[in-house]
Amino acid sequence: MLESGAAEWVNPLRDNRDRRLPRIAGPCALVIFGVTGDLARRKLMPAIYDLANRGLLPPGFALVGFARRAWDDDDFGQVVHDAVREHSRTPFREEVWQRLSEGIRFVQGSFDDDAAFADLARTLETLDRERGTGGNHAFYLSVPPAAFPVVCGQLARSGLAVAQDGAWSRVVIEKPFGHDLDSARELNEVVGEVFSEESVFRIDHYLGKETVQNILALRFANQMFEPVWNAHYVDHVQITMAEDIGLGGRAGYYDGIGAARDVIQNHLLQLLAFTAMEEPVSFAASELHAEKIKVLSATRPAEPFDETTARGQYAAGWQGGEKVVGLLEEKGFAADSITETYAAITLEVDTRRWAGVPFYLRTGKRLGRRVTEIAVVFKRAPHLPFDETMTEELGQNALVVRVQPDEGVTMRFGSKVPGSEMEVRDVNMDFSYGQAFTVSSPEAYERLILDVLLGVPSLFPVDEEVELSWKILDPVLEHWAAHGRPEPYEAGTWGPESADEMLRRTGREWRRP
Ligand code: BG6
Repeated sequence: MLESGAAEWVNPLRDNRDRRLPRIAGPCALVIFGVTGDLARRKLMPAIYDLANRGLLPPGFALVGFARRAWDDDDFGQVVHDAVREHSRTPFREEVWQRLSEGIRFVQGSFDDDAAFADLARTLETLDRERGTGGNHAFYLSVPPAAFPVVCGQLARSGLAVAQDGAWSRVVIEKPFGHDLDSARELNEVVGEVFSEESVFRIDHYLGKETVQNILALRFANQMFEPVWNAHYVDHVQITMAEDIGLGGRAGYYDGIGAARDVIQNHLLQLLAFTAMEEPVSFAASELHAEKIKVLSATRPAEPFDETTARGQYAAGWQGGEKVVGLLEEKGFAADSITETYAAITLEVDTRRWAGVPFYLRTGKRLGRRVTEIAVVFKRAPHLPFDETMTEELGQNALVVRVQPDEGVTMRFGSKVPGSEMEVRDVNMDFSYGQAFTVSSPEAYERLILDVLLGVPSLFPVDEEVELSWKILDPVLEHWAAHGRPEPYEAGTWGPESADEMLRRTGREWRRP
Protein backbone atom coordinates (compact mmCIF):
# COMPACT_ATOMS: atom_id res chain seq x y z
CA MET A 1 0.00 0.00 0.00
CA LEU A 2 1.21 3.48 -0.85
CA GLU A 3 2.01 5.98 1.82
CA SER A 4 -0.61 8.27 0.40
CA GLY A 5 -3.50 6.62 2.32
CA ALA A 6 -6.49 8.73 3.27
CA ALA A 7 -5.08 9.64 6.65
CA GLU A 8 -1.78 11.01 5.37
CA TRP A 9 -2.97 12.69 2.24
CA VAL A 10 -3.28 16.42 2.64
CA ASN A 11 -5.72 18.13 0.37
CA PRO A 12 -4.05 21.44 -0.51
CA LEU A 13 -7.36 23.26 -0.51
CA ARG A 14 -8.59 21.97 2.81
CA ASP A 15 -6.42 24.31 4.86
CA ASN A 16 -7.23 27.27 2.74
CA ARG A 17 -9.34 29.74 4.69
CA ASP A 18 -11.57 30.48 1.72
CA ARG A 19 -14.44 28.09 2.35
CA ARG A 20 -16.00 28.81 -1.03
CA LEU A 21 -13.30 26.79 -2.72
CA PRO A 22 -14.62 23.34 -3.52
CA ARG A 23 -13.05 20.40 -1.79
CA ILE A 24 -11.10 17.98 -3.94
CA ALA A 25 -11.49 14.25 -3.45
CA GLY A 26 -8.51 12.40 -2.01
CA PRO A 27 -6.80 9.50 -3.81
CA CYS A 28 -9.27 6.69 -4.53
CA ALA A 29 -10.68 4.19 -6.97
CA LEU A 30 -14.34 4.09 -7.96
CA VAL A 31 -15.61 0.69 -9.03
CA ILE A 32 -18.89 0.59 -10.95
CA PHE A 33 -20.97 -2.57 -11.11
CA GLY A 34 -23.59 -2.46 -13.84
CA VAL A 35 -21.30 -0.52 -16.07
CA THR A 36 -23.11 -1.56 -19.25
CA GLY A 37 -26.39 -0.01 -18.06
CA ASP A 38 -28.05 3.20 -19.10
CA LEU A 39 -27.40 5.03 -15.84
CA ALA A 40 -23.66 4.41 -16.02
CA ARG A 41 -23.46 5.63 -19.60
CA ARG A 42 -25.78 8.62 -19.37
CA LYS A 43 -25.05 9.88 -15.87
CA LEU A 44 -22.16 8.28 -13.98
CA MET A 45 -19.36 8.32 -16.55
CA PRO A 46 -20.14 11.86 -17.74
CA ALA A 47 -20.31 13.07 -14.12
CA ILE A 48 -16.88 11.57 -13.39
CA TYR A 49 -15.43 13.34 -16.39
CA ASP A 50 -17.11 16.61 -15.38
CA LEU A 51 -15.57 16.30 -11.92
CA ALA A 52 -12.16 15.69 -13.48
CA ASN A 53 -12.67 18.65 -15.78
CA ARG A 54 -13.51 20.88 -12.83
CA GLY A 55 -10.29 19.79 -11.12
CA LEU A 56 -12.15 18.00 -8.32
CA LEU A 57 -10.57 14.58 -8.76
CA PRO A 58 -7.04 13.92 -7.53
CA PRO A 59 -4.21 12.68 -9.76
CA GLY A 60 -4.46 9.37 -7.90
CA PHE A 61 -7.91 8.50 -9.19
CA ALA A 62 -9.00 5.34 -10.97
CA LEU A 63 -12.26 4.19 -12.51
CA VAL A 64 -12.85 0.46 -12.65
CA GLY A 65 -15.71 -1.12 -14.60
CA PHE A 66 -17.00 -4.56 -13.70
CA ALA A 67 -19.30 -6.49 -16.06
CA ARG A 68 -19.75 -9.72 -17.97
CA ARG A 69 -18.82 -8.25 -21.37
CA ALA A 70 -15.65 -9.55 -22.99
CA TRP A 71 -13.96 -6.15 -22.87
CA ASP A 72 -10.40 -5.17 -22.04
CA ASP A 73 -9.29 -1.89 -20.47
CA ASP A 74 -9.17 -0.17 -23.86
CA ASP A 75 -12.66 -1.31 -24.87
CA PHE A 76 -14.05 -0.01 -21.63
CA GLY A 77 -12.06 3.20 -22.02
CA GLN A 78 -13.70 3.67 -25.41
CA VAL A 79 -17.15 3.15 -23.87
CA VAL A 80 -16.42 5.77 -21.22
CA HIS A 81 -15.01 8.10 -23.87
CA ASP A 82 -18.15 7.83 -26.02
CA ALA A 83 -20.43 8.34 -23.02
CA VAL A 84 -18.44 11.41 -22.00
CA ARG A 85 -18.48 12.89 -25.49
CA GLU A 86 -22.21 12.38 -25.73
CA HIS A 87 -23.46 13.29 -22.27
CA SER A 88 -20.97 15.33 -20.25
CA ARG A 89 -22.01 18.79 -19.14
CA THR A 90 -18.67 20.53 -19.49
CA PRO A 91 -16.64 20.85 -22.71
CA PHE A 92 -14.38 17.99 -23.77
CA ARG A 93 -10.70 18.67 -23.14
CA GLU A 94 -8.17 16.21 -24.48
CA GLU A 95 -5.66 16.71 -21.64
CA VAL A 96 -8.30 16.04 -18.97
CA TRP A 97 -9.46 12.94 -20.79
CA GLN A 98 -5.87 11.67 -21.17
CA ARG A 99 -5.24 11.95 -17.44
CA LEU A 100 -8.55 10.31 -16.57
CA SER A 101 -8.20 7.50 -19.11
CA GLU A 102 -4.81 6.44 -17.71
CA GLY A 103 -6.65 5.29 -14.60
CA ILE A 104 -9.42 3.34 -16.36
CA ARG A 105 -9.50 -0.45 -15.88
CA PHE A 106 -11.97 -3.21 -16.64
CA VAL A 107 -12.59 -6.45 -14.80
CA GLN A 108 -14.62 -9.10 -16.56
CA GLY A 109 -16.91 -11.42 -14.66
CA SER A 110 -20.33 -12.17 -13.30
CA PHE A 111 -21.47 -11.37 -9.77
CA ASP A 112 -21.32 -14.99 -8.64
CA ASP A 113 -17.81 -15.53 -9.95
CA ASP A 114 -15.31 -15.68 -7.05
CA ALA A 115 -12.36 -15.57 -9.42
CA ALA A 116 -13.59 -12.29 -10.94
CA PHE A 117 -13.71 -10.68 -7.49
CA ALA A 118 -10.23 -11.95 -6.74
CA ASP A 119 -9.22 -10.35 -10.01
CA LEU A 120 -10.93 -7.12 -8.92
CA ALA A 121 -9.01 -7.18 -5.64
CA ARG A 122 -5.74 -7.64 -7.52
CA THR A 123 -6.59 -4.84 -9.94
CA LEU A 124 -7.30 -2.48 -7.05
CA GLU A 125 -4.13 -3.47 -5.26
CA THR A 126 -2.11 -2.73 -8.38
CA LEU A 127 -3.84 0.62 -8.78
CA ASP A 128 -3.14 1.46 -5.14
CA ARG A 129 0.51 0.74 -5.72
CA GLU A 130 1.01 2.15 -9.19
CA ARG A 131 -1.51 4.94 -9.50
CA GLY A 132 -1.55 5.95 -5.86
CA THR A 133 -5.23 5.38 -5.13
CA GLY A 134 -4.26 4.88 -1.50
CA GLY A 135 -6.39 1.82 -0.68
CA ASN A 136 -9.55 3.95 -0.76
CA HIS A 137 -12.33 2.24 -2.69
CA ALA A 138 -15.92 3.16 -3.49
CA PHE A 139 -18.15 0.43 -4.92
CA TYR A 140 -21.07 1.77 -6.92
CA LEU A 141 -23.90 -0.75 -7.24
CA SER A 142 -25.74 0.42 -10.33
CA VAL A 143 -27.49 -2.95 -10.46
CA PRO A 144 -30.99 -4.32 -9.74
CA PRO A 145 -31.67 -4.73 -6.01
CA ALA A 146 -31.80 -8.51 -6.39
CA ALA A 147 -28.05 -8.35 -7.07
CA PHE A 148 -27.18 -6.31 -3.92
CA PRO A 149 -26.80 -9.31 -1.59
CA VAL A 150 -24.56 -11.28 -3.90
CA VAL A 151 -22.30 -8.33 -4.72
CA CYS A 152 -22.03 -7.31 -1.05
CA GLY A 153 -21.24 -10.92 -0.16
CA GLN A 154 -18.51 -11.08 -2.79
CA LEU A 155 -16.99 -7.80 -1.61
CA ALA A 156 -16.89 -9.21 1.92
CA ARG A 157 -15.37 -12.53 0.84
CA SER A 158 -12.71 -10.94 -1.33
CA GLY A 159 -11.67 -8.69 1.56
CA LEU A 160 -12.68 -5.53 -0.25
CA ALA A 161 -15.45 -4.41 2.09
CA VAL A 162 -13.04 -3.65 4.89
CA ALA A 163 -10.39 -1.05 4.18
CA GLN A 164 -6.85 -1.40 5.41
CA ASP A 165 -4.63 0.94 7.39
CA GLY A 166 -6.77 4.02 7.77
CA ALA A 167 -8.07 3.90 4.20
CA TRP A 168 -11.80 3.68 3.47
CA SER A 169 -14.20 1.37 1.68
CA ARG A 170 -17.68 2.66 0.79
CA VAL A 171 -20.67 1.25 -1.00
CA VAL A 172 -23.02 3.31 -3.14
CA ILE A 173 -26.49 1.92 -3.71
CA GLU A 174 -28.92 2.99 -6.37
CA LYS A 175 -32.67 2.84 -5.99
CA PRO A 176 -35.03 1.06 -5.94
CA PHE A 177 -34.17 0.15 -2.38
CA GLY A 178 -36.61 -2.71 -1.99
CA HIS A 179 -40.22 -2.83 -3.19
CA ASP A 180 -41.89 -2.54 0.22
CA LEU A 181 -41.01 -2.14 3.88
CA ASP A 182 -40.11 -5.79 4.47
CA SER A 183 -37.84 -6.10 1.46
CA ALA A 184 -36.16 -2.77 2.29
CA ARG A 185 -35.48 -3.99 5.83
CA GLU A 186 -33.99 -7.19 4.48
CA LEU A 187 -31.75 -5.27 2.10
CA ASN A 188 -30.64 -2.93 4.87
CA GLU A 189 -29.73 -5.96 6.94
CA VAL A 190 -27.81 -7.64 4.14
CA VAL A 191 -25.87 -4.47 3.36
CA GLY A 192 -25.42 -3.77 7.08
CA GLU A 193 -23.78 -7.15 7.63
CA VAL A 194 -21.00 -6.13 5.28
CA PHE A 195 -20.72 -2.35 5.57
CA SER A 196 -21.18 -0.06 8.56
CA GLU A 197 -23.96 2.54 8.12
CA GLU A 198 -21.35 5.34 7.74
CA SER A 199 -19.94 3.49 4.73
CA VAL A 200 -23.29 3.10 2.97
CA PHE A 201 -24.31 5.85 0.55
CA ARG A 202 -27.86 5.41 -0.77
CA ILE A 203 -28.34 7.56 -3.82
CA ASP A 204 -31.43 9.66 -4.25
CA HIS A 205 -30.28 11.84 -7.10
CA TYR A 206 -32.96 14.47 -6.36
CA LEU A 207 -30.97 15.48 -3.29
CA GLY A 208 -28.02 16.26 -5.55
CA LYS A 209 -30.03 18.88 -7.42
CA GLU A 210 -29.17 22.51 -6.64
CA THR A 211 -32.81 23.51 -6.51
CA VAL A 212 -33.59 20.83 -3.95
CA GLN A 213 -30.75 21.94 -1.70
CA ASN A 214 -32.02 25.47 -2.20
CA ILE A 215 -35.20 24.56 -0.31
CA LEU A 216 -33.03 24.54 2.81
CA ALA A 217 -31.39 27.85 1.92
CA LEU A 218 -34.73 29.44 1.13
CA ARG A 219 -36.30 28.28 4.37
CA PHE A 220 -33.46 28.58 6.83
CA ALA A 221 -31.28 31.41 5.53
CA ASN A 222 -34.16 33.89 5.30
CA GLN A 223 -36.48 35.53 7.74
CA MET A 224 -39.52 36.12 5.55
CA PHE A 225 -40.68 32.58 4.76
CA GLU A 226 -40.52 30.56 7.99
CA PRO A 227 -43.07 32.66 9.93
CA VAL A 228 -45.77 31.72 7.41
CA TRP A 229 -44.53 28.17 6.74
CA ASN A 230 -47.15 26.43 8.84
CA ALA A 231 -50.78 25.45 9.24
CA HIS A 232 -51.84 28.97 10.24
CA TYR A 233 -51.05 30.28 6.78
CA VAL A 234 -50.60 27.33 4.44
CA ASP A 235 -53.70 25.80 2.88
CA HIS A 236 -51.97 22.85 1.22
CA VAL A 237 -48.77 21.81 -0.55
CA GLN A 238 -48.54 20.31 -4.04
CA ILE A 239 -45.44 18.40 -5.02
CA THR A 240 -45.41 17.58 -8.71
CA MET A 241 -42.94 15.56 -10.75
CA ALA A 242 -44.31 15.43 -14.28
CA GLU A 243 -42.46 13.86 -17.18
CA ASP A 244 -43.28 13.90 -20.85
CA ILE A 245 -41.26 10.78 -21.70
CA GLY A 246 -42.83 7.36 -22.04
CA LEU A 247 -41.50 4.03 -20.90
CA GLY A 248 -40.32 2.56 -24.19
CA GLY A 249 -37.15 0.55 -23.48
CA ARG A 250 -37.65 0.48 -19.70
CA ALA A 251 -40.10 -2.40 -19.33
CA GLY A 252 -37.51 -4.62 -17.64
CA TYR A 253 -37.20 -2.19 -14.77
CA TYR A 254 -40.59 -0.51 -14.69
CA ASP A 255 -43.23 -3.18 -15.33
CA GLY A 256 -44.54 -4.26 -11.95
CA ILE A 257 -42.80 -1.32 -10.21
CA GLY A 258 -44.92 1.64 -11.24
CA ALA A 259 -44.82 5.37 -10.61
CA ALA A 260 -45.31 5.33 -6.83
CA ARG A 261 -42.43 2.94 -6.14
CA ASP A 262 -40.26 4.51 -8.82
CA VAL A 263 -40.33 8.09 -7.60
CA ILE A 264 -42.81 8.82 -4.81
CA GLN A 265 -41.16 6.45 -2.32
CA ASN A 266 -37.85 8.23 -2.79
CA HIS A 267 -37.64 11.55 -4.68
CA LEU A 268 -41.04 12.99 -3.75
CA LEU A 269 -40.94 11.94 -0.11
CA GLN A 270 -37.49 13.48 0.18
CA LEU A 271 -38.90 16.70 -1.29
CA LEU A 272 -41.69 16.52 1.26
CA ALA A 273 -39.16 15.99 4.06
CA PHE A 274 -37.14 19.06 3.04
CA THR A 275 -40.32 21.12 2.75
CA ALA A 276 -41.93 20.03 6.00
CA MET A 277 -39.05 19.37 8.40
CA GLU A 278 -38.05 21.57 11.30
CA GLU A 279 -34.85 23.61 11.21
CA PRO A 280 -31.88 21.31 11.86
CA VAL A 281 -29.50 22.27 14.66
CA SER A 282 -26.76 22.41 12.03
CA PHE A 283 -26.14 21.03 8.58
CA ALA A 284 -24.12 18.16 9.94
CA ALA A 285 -25.40 14.96 8.34
CA SER A 286 -26.66 13.52 11.62
CA GLU A 287 -28.73 16.64 12.37
CA LEU A 288 -30.22 16.76 8.89
CA HIS A 289 -31.06 13.07 9.00
CA ALA A 290 -32.61 13.44 12.45
CA GLU A 291 -35.01 16.15 11.24
CA LYS A 292 -35.97 14.21 8.13
CA ILE A 293 -36.59 11.10 10.20
CA LYS A 294 -38.78 13.08 12.58
CA VAL A 295 -40.98 14.48 9.86
CA LEU A 296 -41.23 11.19 7.95
CA SER A 297 -42.24 9.46 11.20
CA ALA A 298 -45.10 11.93 11.52
CA THR A 299 -46.29 11.47 7.93
CA ARG A 300 -49.09 9.10 6.92
CA PRO A 301 -51.37 8.67 3.94
CA ALA A 302 -54.83 10.20 4.30
CA GLU A 303 -57.80 7.85 3.98
CA PRO A 304 -60.11 6.62 2.50
CA PHE A 305 -57.73 5.74 -0.34
CA ASP A 306 -60.51 5.64 -2.94
CA GLU A 307 -60.87 9.35 -2.39
CA THR A 308 -57.38 10.46 -1.41
CA THR A 309 -55.32 8.68 -4.07
CA ALA A 310 -55.46 8.25 -7.82
CA ARG A 311 -53.52 6.20 -10.32
CA GLY A 312 -53.43 6.02 -14.07
CA GLN A 313 -51.79 4.38 -17.03
CA TYR A 314 -51.05 6.30 -20.21
CA ALA A 315 -52.92 5.36 -23.35
CA ALA A 316 -52.03 6.43 -26.89
CA GLY A 317 -52.13 10.14 -27.59
CA TRP A 318 -50.19 13.06 -29.00
CA GLN A 319 -47.03 14.50 -27.57
CA GLY A 320 -44.85 17.25 -29.01
CA GLY A 321 -46.77 16.98 -32.29
CA GLU A 322 -46.16 13.24 -32.57
CA LYS A 323 -48.46 10.31 -32.11
CA VAL A 324 -47.28 8.09 -29.27
CA VAL A 325 -48.41 4.63 -28.17
CA GLY A 326 -49.93 3.69 -24.84
CA LEU A 327 -48.08 1.72 -22.17
CA LEU A 328 -49.72 -1.55 -23.15
CA GLU A 329 -48.32 -1.21 -26.66
CA GLU A 330 -44.79 -0.38 -25.45
CA LYS A 331 -42.30 -3.17 -26.09
CA GLY A 332 -41.79 -5.53 -23.19
CA PHE A 333 -44.88 -4.61 -21.15
CA ALA A 334 -47.40 -7.34 -20.49
CA ALA A 335 -50.53 -6.79 -22.61
CA ASP A 336 -52.60 -6.74 -19.42
CA SER A 337 -50.05 -4.87 -17.28
CA ILE A 338 -51.60 -3.05 -14.35
CA THR A 339 -48.45 -1.02 -13.70
CA GLU A 340 -49.40 2.59 -12.98
CA THR A 341 -47.58 5.34 -14.85
CA TYR A 342 -49.35 8.07 -12.89
CA ALA A 343 -49.80 8.22 -9.14
CA ALA A 344 -51.22 10.85 -6.82
CA ILE A 345 -51.50 10.53 -3.06
CA THR A 346 -52.58 12.71 -0.15
CA LEU A 347 -50.36 12.81 2.91
CA GLU A 348 -50.88 14.28 6.33
CA VAL A 349 -48.06 15.39 8.56
CA ASP A 350 -49.11 15.01 12.16
CA THR A 351 -47.15 17.79 13.80
CA ARG A 352 -48.17 21.07 15.36
CA ARG A 353 -46.73 22.88 12.34
CA TRP A 354 -48.70 20.95 9.73
CA ALA A 355 -51.85 19.64 11.38
CA GLY A 356 -54.70 19.78 8.86
CA VAL A 357 -52.52 20.76 5.88
CA PRO A 358 -52.71 18.15 3.11
CA PHE A 359 -49.59 17.43 1.08
CA TYR A 360 -50.58 16.29 -2.42
CA LEU A 361 -47.89 14.36 -4.25
CA ARG A 362 -48.27 13.45 -7.92
CA THR A 363 -46.08 12.07 -10.65
CA GLY A 364 -46.62 10.70 -14.10
CA LYS A 365 -45.11 9.74 -17.43
CA ARG A 366 -46.34 11.11 -20.75
CA LEU A 367 -47.88 14.17 -19.13
CA GLY A 368 -48.27 17.61 -20.70
CA ARG A 369 -44.67 18.67 -20.06
CA ARG A 370 -41.62 17.91 -17.97
CA VAL A 371 -41.72 19.87 -14.75
CA THR A 372 -40.89 19.27 -11.10
CA GLU A 373 -42.06 21.80 -8.55
CA ILE A 374 -43.12 22.26 -4.96
CA ALA A 375 -46.01 24.67 -4.58
CA VAL A 376 -46.82 25.94 -1.11
CA VAL A 377 -50.34 27.31 -1.52
CA PHE A 378 -51.49 29.80 1.12
CA LYS A 379 -54.91 30.32 2.63
CA ARG A 380 -57.01 33.18 1.42
CA ALA A 381 -56.79 36.41 3.39
CA PRO A 382 -59.28 36.19 6.27
CA HIS A 383 -60.99 39.35 5.14
CA LEU A 384 -61.06 41.19 1.81
CA PRO A 385 -62.11 44.84 1.98
CA PHE A 386 -63.13 44.81 -1.70
CA ASP A 387 -66.34 44.22 -3.60
CA GLU A 388 -66.55 40.63 -4.73
CA THR A 389 -66.27 41.63 -8.38
CA MET A 390 -62.93 43.31 -7.70
CA THR A 391 -61.31 40.09 -6.54
CA GLU A 392 -63.17 37.46 -8.50
CA GLU A 393 -60.02 36.64 -10.49
CA LEU A 394 -57.79 36.54 -7.44
CA GLY A 395 -56.46 33.08 -6.59
CA GLN A 396 -54.47 31.95 -3.59
CA ASN A 397 -50.97 33.18 -2.83
CA ALA A 398 -48.34 30.58 -3.61
CA LEU A 399 -44.64 30.10 -3.28
CA VAL A 400 -43.38 27.72 -5.91
CA VAL A 401 -39.93 26.15 -5.83
CA ARG A 402 -39.24 25.32 -9.46
CA VAL A 403 -36.98 22.28 -9.20
CA GLN A 404 -36.70 21.82 -12.97
CA PRO A 405 -36.40 22.50 -15.82
CA ASP A 406 -36.76 26.26 -15.44
CA GLU A 407 -34.93 26.37 -12.08
CA GLY A 408 -35.95 29.10 -9.67
CA VAL A 409 -38.64 30.30 -7.32
CA THR A 410 -41.94 32.00 -8.11
CA MET A 411 -44.11 33.97 -5.74
CA ARG A 412 -47.73 34.41 -6.77
CA PHE A 413 -49.78 37.16 -5.20
CA GLY A 414 -52.58 39.58 -6.06
CA SER A 415 -51.91 42.94 -7.64
CA LYS A 416 -54.04 45.82 -8.84
CA VAL A 417 -54.75 45.78 -12.54
CA PRO A 418 -53.84 49.19 -14.02
CA GLY A 419 -56.90 51.35 -14.62
CA SER A 420 -59.40 53.52 -12.85
CA GLU A 421 -61.18 50.57 -11.23
CA MET A 422 -59.87 48.56 -8.29
CA GLU A 423 -59.46 45.13 -9.77
CA VAL A 424 -57.06 42.59 -8.26
CA ARG A 425 -55.55 39.75 -10.19
CA ASP A 426 -52.72 37.22 -9.69
CA VAL A 427 -49.21 38.13 -10.77
CA ASN A 428 -45.92 36.27 -10.50
CA MET A 429 -42.59 37.42 -9.17
CA ASP A 430 -39.78 35.22 -10.40
CA PHE A 431 -36.28 34.36 -9.34
CA SER A 432 -34.50 32.40 -12.01
CA TYR A 433 -31.16 30.66 -11.56
CA GLY A 434 -30.22 31.33 -15.17
CA GLN A 435 -30.53 35.08 -14.68
CA ALA A 436 -29.28 35.45 -11.14
CA PHE A 437 -26.11 33.38 -11.41
CA THR A 438 -23.52 33.15 -14.14
CA VAL A 439 -22.31 29.65 -13.28
CA SER A 440 -24.34 26.70 -14.46
CA SER A 441 -25.48 24.15 -11.89
CA PRO A 442 -23.53 20.90 -11.62
CA GLU A 443 -25.43 17.75 -12.44
CA ALA A 444 -26.87 15.96 -9.40
CA TYR A 445 -24.55 13.00 -9.95
CA GLU A 446 -21.46 15.19 -9.96
CA ARG A 447 -22.31 16.50 -6.54
CA LEU A 448 -23.25 13.11 -5.15
CA ILE A 449 -20.28 11.16 -6.53
CA LEU A 450 -17.94 13.82 -5.17
CA ASP A 451 -19.64 13.59 -1.77
CA VAL A 452 -19.14 9.81 -1.77
CA LEU A 453 -15.44 10.22 -2.51
CA LEU A 454 -15.15 12.91 0.17
CA GLY A 455 -17.16 10.84 2.64
CA VAL A 456 -19.79 13.54 3.18
CA PRO A 457 -23.08 11.74 3.95
CA SER A 458 -25.55 14.65 4.34
CA LEU A 459 -27.30 14.19 1.01
CA PHE A 460 -27.75 10.42 1.28
CA PRO A 461 -30.87 9.01 2.96
CA VAL A 462 -30.10 6.68 5.85
CA ASP A 463 -31.69 3.25 6.36
CA GLU A 464 -34.41 4.60 8.63
CA GLU A 465 -35.56 7.20 6.10
CA VAL A 466 -35.86 4.55 3.41
CA GLU A 467 -37.86 2.30 5.73
CA LEU A 468 -40.13 5.12 6.90
CA SER A 469 -40.84 6.06 3.29
CA TRP A 470 -42.00 2.52 2.54
CA LYS A 471 -44.07 2.55 5.69
CA ILE A 472 -45.89 5.62 4.40
CA LEU A 473 -46.46 4.18 0.94
CA ASP A 474 -47.16 0.50 1.63
CA PRO A 475 -50.83 0.87 2.71
CA VAL A 476 -51.61 2.74 -0.52
CA LEU A 477 -49.84 0.14 -2.64
CA GLU A 478 -51.71 -2.65 -0.88
CA HIS A 479 -55.00 -0.88 -1.45
CA TRP A 480 -54.26 -0.43 -5.14
CA ALA A 481 -53.14 -4.04 -5.54
CA ALA A 482 -56.52 -5.17 -4.18
CA HIS A 483 -58.63 -2.75 -6.21
CA GLY A 484 -58.64 -3.19 -9.96
CA ARG A 485 -56.70 -1.44 -12.68
CA PRO A 486 -55.27 2.05 -13.05
CA GLU A 487 -57.44 4.45 -15.04
CA PRO A 488 -56.24 5.13 -18.60
CA TYR A 489 -55.33 8.70 -19.52
CA GLU A 490 -54.44 10.06 -22.88
CA ALA A 491 -50.72 10.69 -23.44
CA GLY A 492 -49.92 14.40 -23.45
CA THR A 493 -52.66 15.30 -20.95
CA TRP A 494 -52.35 15.93 -17.20
CA GLY A 495 -53.34 12.47 -16.01
CA PRO A 496 -56.52 10.58 -15.17
CA GLU A 497 -59.84 12.20 -14.35
CA SER A 498 -59.80 10.56 -10.91
CA ALA A 499 -56.77 12.67 -9.97
CA ASP A 500 -58.66 15.88 -10.74
CA GLU A 501 -61.62 14.53 -8.84
CA MET A 502 -59.38 13.75 -5.87
CA LEU A 503 -58.62 17.45 -5.40
CA ARG A 504 -61.99 18.78 -6.55
CA ARG A 505 -63.58 16.85 -3.71
CA THR A 506 -61.64 19.02 -1.26
CA GLY A 507 -62.47 22.25 -3.10
CA ARG A 508 -58.98 22.52 -4.60
CA GLU A 509 -57.38 21.98 -7.97
CA TRP A 510 -54.03 20.92 -9.36
CA ARG A 511 -51.76 23.58 -10.71
CA ARG A 512 -51.18 23.46 -14.45
CA PRO A 513 -47.50 24.37 -14.47
C1 BG6 B 1 -35.44 8.24 -11.85
C2 BG6 B 1 -36.65 7.42 -12.22
O1 BG6 B 1 -35.13 8.03 -10.49
O2 BG6 B 1 -35.69 9.60 -12.05
C3 BG6 B 1 -37.06 7.70 -13.65
O3 BG6 B 1 -36.38 6.03 -12.08
C4 BG6 B 1 -37.20 9.19 -13.89
O4 BG6 B 1 -38.27 7.03 -13.97
C5 BG6 B 1 -35.95 9.93 -13.41
O5 BG6 B 1 -37.39 9.40 -15.27
C6 BG6 B 1 -36.13 11.42 -13.53
O6 BG6 B 1 -34.96 12.09 -13.17
P1 BG6 B 1 -34.75 13.61 -13.54
O7 BG6 B 1 -33.50 13.98 -12.85
O8 BG6 B 1 -34.67 13.67 -15.04
O9 BG6 B 1 -35.95 14.34 -13.04
